Amino acid sequence: MAKITKLDDIVSLCKRRGFIFQSSEIYGGLASCYDYGPLGVELKSNVRKAWWKSVVQMRDDVVGVDCSILMHPLVWKASGHADKFADLIAECKKCNVRTRVDHLAENAEEHTEHISLDIAEAAEYDLSNKVCPGCGKIGQFTEPMPFKLMFETQMGANVDDSMMLYLRPETAQGIFVNFRNVLDSTRVKIPFGIAQIGKSFRNEVTTKAFIFRTREFEQAELEFFCQPGTDDDWWHTWKDLRFQWYIDLGIKKENLRLRDHAGDELAHYAKACVDVEYKFPFGSGDWQELEGIANRTDYDLRQHQRGMRTLNKWYETKGDLTKIDLSDEAEDYEKGPLSYFDEEQKKRFIPYVIEPSAGIDRSTLAFLVDAYDEEEVKGQKRNLLRFHPALAPIKAAVFPLVKKDGLPEIAQNICNDFKKYFNCFYDQKGAVGRRYRRQDEAGTPYCLTVDGQTKEDGTVTVRERDSMEQERISTDKLLGYLREKLDI
Ligand code: GAP
Repeated sequence: MAKITKLDDIVSLCKRRGFIFQSSEIYGGLASCYDYGPLGVELKSNVRKAWWKSVVQMRDDVVGVDCSILMHPLVWKASGHADKFADLIAECKKCNVRTRVDHLAENAEEHTEHISLDIAEAAEYDLSNKVCPGCGKIGQFTEPMPFKLMFETQMGANVDDSMMLYLRPETAQGIFVNFRNVLDSTRVKIPFGIAQIGKSFRNEVTTKAFIFRTREFEQAELEFFCQPGTDDDWWHTWKDLRFQWYIDLGIKKENLRLRDHAGDELAHYAKACVDVEYKFPFGSGDWQELEGIANRTDYDLRQHQRGMRTLNKWYETKGDLTKIDLSDEAEDYEKGPLSYFDEEQKKRFIPYVIEPSAGIDRSTLAFLVDAYDEEEVKGQKRNLLRFHPALAPIKAAVFPLVKKDGLPEIAQNICNDFKKYFNCFYDQKGAVGRRYRRQDEAGTPYCLTVDGQTKEDGTVTVRERDSMEQERISTDKLLGYLREKLDI
């Protein structure tokens, strides 16, 4: 049976070994914000690289962009975020704790997170038998009210020309507003995709479970543009590819599943959506979203065509988004500036979009949880992270068995050589068994030990993390051996 790992064990290992720390910890910490330490920054960077390799580097039909976090306010009017991007919350009249309405359950054990309520439906939502997670009182809530999720900030030093902006709540919109630029500056032809990895910000009501849901987080998003009518096939293709990505990077199949969204769960822009879910060890072990693969239809490009037309109005109203009306039923969309002309078919259309949208922090947590293991070796507990080699922060560690007889120099030279190719760590402190354990906890796939025999026959001991098996490899074959095993 699969072992259930406690999240507390992961959190404490992350702090102990320098993967993840609470933000601003010396000032008491800042809720739901986290910093990645020396091992964490490597792990997260490897998650990013693995995503980029699979989604951009290995494909002929996807290009990348890196857009700014601050964007023109009309972007968020057009995308629908300025009007609709809110959570419905209710406040407990007894303890004043505010909770997302869709997170309220009928008993404290139950967990629900799959309802997408429209603000207009809020008043009808029955909270009379829901339990407050703060004090346990039943049905003592205020009327549900919308809580805006976008962070606001001011741009400009002068009061007169300063402008209210939002921190982007998703990276996707940077891609849509650059659709024309990418078309005009590259040779891409539909079907093709534009990918981006970057920070997003949401003033989440409920934050929980370490880096699972935070207010500042990183997304990896692909907007794949295709001809209407081919969108269902592309949706299936990306759903399979994205599921397989996690499996290929070592996530256990029994901990991963696909879950189709029910109609009432779909976001305002989506025709279909499926979540890749991971069985996270929160509470009793909940299936939670890692990534969504949505069919966004032509919603965003159409909306931005409408948004572009409101620019004058926006100036007239001094940037009051509430005065801007995007509805324009008579518009000839297919000929608009964000349409695409297919040379072969001599046809113009607004492309449909398939969007796989993953969380870098959330998948980093899944990789950590899935790799975490404890076992007993010779009566002693061994903690280890069984990372896929592509994700391991350190690929190999080199040890001299003892700090004398020229062994440190040989080991240091090997380590310096390998650093040109991958992260390699030199350690000469303490008993060799202890050094192995430290690397096991960091998830390092290979440890190389230089000993007396190295000086005689030029071989070193190579110890593999998971099996702990050891073999002697000659130093001139070592780099090739490791690069093959690590696939780098
Ligand atoms: N552009 C579509 C979009 O943003 P989403 O389902 O809201 O869709 C996509 O977000 C992914 O981003 C999620 O599956 C999750 O991995 C990650 N994500 C969203 N909100 C997050 C948060 N507050 N903290 C950490 N990751 C988050």
